[in-house]
Amino acid sequence: MAAEDGFVETVDRAAEEGRTPFYERARERNLAPLWRVLGGLVTEEPRSPAVPAHWAYSDVRPYLIEACDLISTEEAERRVLVFENPGLPGQSRITPSLFAGYQIIRPGEVAPAHRHVASALRFILEGKDAYTAVAGERTMMEPGDFVITPSWTWHDHGNESDELMVWIDGLDMHMVNLVSASFREGYPGRSHPVTRPEGAAMAEVGFNLVPVDFETTSQTSPIFNYPYRRTREALEMVSRTRAPDACHAFKMHYINPLNGKSAIPTITTAMQLLPKGFRSSSYKSTAGTVFSVVEGKGSVTVGDMRFQLAPKDLFVAPSWFPIQFEAESDLILFSYSDRIVQDKLDLFRESRGDA
Ligand SMILES: [Fe+2]
Repeated sequence: MAAEDGFVETVDRAAEEGRTPFYERARERNLAPLWRVLGGLVTEEPRSPAVPAHWAYSDVRPYLIEACDLISTEEAERRVLVFENPGLPGQSRITPSLFAGYQIIRPGEVAPAHRHVASALRFILEGKDAYTAVAGERTMMEPGDFVITPSWTWHDHGNESDELMVWIDGLDMHMVNLVSASFREGYPGRSHPVTRPEGAAMAEVGFNLVPVDFETTSQTSPIFNYPYRRTREALEMVSRTRAPDACHAFKMHYINPLNGKSAIPTITTAMQLLPKGFRSSSYKSTAGTVFSVVEGKGSVTVGDMRFQLAPKDLFVAPSWFPIQFEAESDLILFSYSDRIVQDKLDLFRESRGDA
């Protein structure tokens, strides 16, 4: 047992004052007593410093528009407003391990090419006919599309349409930084040259076929755009052929078709459909999860917070906070979490129902 402040409960607090000179001498040697902090280091249950939070798109969008007038993509490199978890201010974290932001590009703008070890996902909210280019191949993006920029691949974004383009950026840089493995490089030029036709990656691996002797050294899916119309169709079909899961209704993970594993090796990504009238059983897991509402209306309760949901809203359920949904209409949610990392390290736990 441990006290909230980290002291081991059996420590005699009255005796601690007499130990102070020892602690001070130890500190001079960069040594510290474990018995004063152990309770906070090895907790009985997950104790996330993140809190449940919700951002209504109608509240956030005006800030994105204002940012467009204040700074160019050239000056900012990426014009992104970061979702800061209220429990983790100033850290660019929506959970301890995950980054989330809204990126906006105006017609005619280019977000210049660069590459980094951190992997990124884009989830498209608004606009169409803007592109993301990855390693010389462009993909045009539409709302609901899930786009990957794999670790250490050149990527840039451009908007050749006459509409604003807004998407969610999700990155694993906090995990990369935890193990001090970050590298980043700017491309010597605004855009990386286009070397492959659009759709090349999808043709190679996106139809349950693969070229003979196809080789890749990356664990990331070679498909870097999972179009929403195909995802939607799969969910729709699955909802007609399977019974809904009590906690998730119909929830499917995005996978790398070459190995059946997570599309991104550090971030689990999923899309789920909760049919109109569905009320989920309470669920909690150690994987803090970021959700984006794609379609429909409903509400979610995370811990003791209840949020009304509308399309393009974003909310977060930190590790071990119970989550429960009510769908007023067919509700479709995109989500991402660090579950895949926890799975690989035998850390993931979940609890279904009210227990
Ligand atoms: Fe990037």
